[in-house]
Amino acid sequence: MKTYIIGNWKMNFSTGESSLYLHKLLNKVPSYRDIEVVVAPSTLSLQSLSLQTERRKIKLAAQNAYAADYGAFTGETAMASLRGIVNYCLVGHSERRHIFGESDKDVRAKVAAALRFGITPILCVGETEIERDMKETASVIKDQLLGGLSDVSKEDLDKVIIAYEPVWAISGHGKATIAKPSDVDEVVKLIRETLAATYSKKIAENIPVLYGGSVKTTNAAAYLSVPGVNGLLIGGASLIASEFLGIIDIAKRTIVE
Ligand code: PGA
Repeated sequence: MKTYIIGNWKMNFSTGESSLYLHKLLNKVPSYRDIEVVVAPSTLSLQSLSLQTERRKIKLAAQNAYAADYGAFTGETAMASLRGIVNYCLVGHSERRHIFGESDKDVRAKVAAALRFGITPILCVGETEIERDMKETASVIKDQLLGGLSDVSKEDLDKVIIAYEPVWAISGHGKATIAKPSDVDEVVKLIRETLAATYSKKIAENIPVLYGGSVKTTNAAAYLSVPGVNGLLIGGASLIASEFLGIIDIAKRTIVE
């Protein structure tokens, strides 16, 4: 399975800045066969960056899109209109769930819409600090996972990526605590066990599961070494070229070792 290194730029960089930054990354990122490098810029920048990027080196993801194909949905961007522009779309990122009130029902519709248009959904799941303190992690993860996937046919499950992002470990949310590799191990196991029990062992083994939350060059190797982790979703550190490139380099070395 490939290792995914995905930079979520969130609401940072103007279109001009995004283009300059992508240019810088393209100059430095080799074309790897076993590492899939993806960046998720703002929706506004996607079209121009899709003309600029060299997809064998860096592919594009949308950070969000709407499930309906067209209609009276002021301010939204249809998944349908991202076809051909992006290869991936984040769905259900914790900022979408908690700041913008997205429910599992919304998330499920977006996962299905992405697949309808040949876009790989990256379904994000993760518990908040309070849920963790209340020992609700397992039930929250299962609900978000199965809730997000319930409209996906068995044949399409191999076109989905799961990202485990504990909300309490995401930087930019006040006092982010760093997740221990053992925390990640526990939940990644739970994700695969849930998939195996609901679908099949084969499906559970074939779905890539990523980790995200305060990933940096200093901890990337430790997360990538957790069994069953197939890549990283990186926010803050993906905005700094030396960090993002450093993490790609670590991924390369971790795979080889
Ligand atoms: P972070 O963000 O790496 O800044 O913690 C991760 C994410 O929200 O995807």
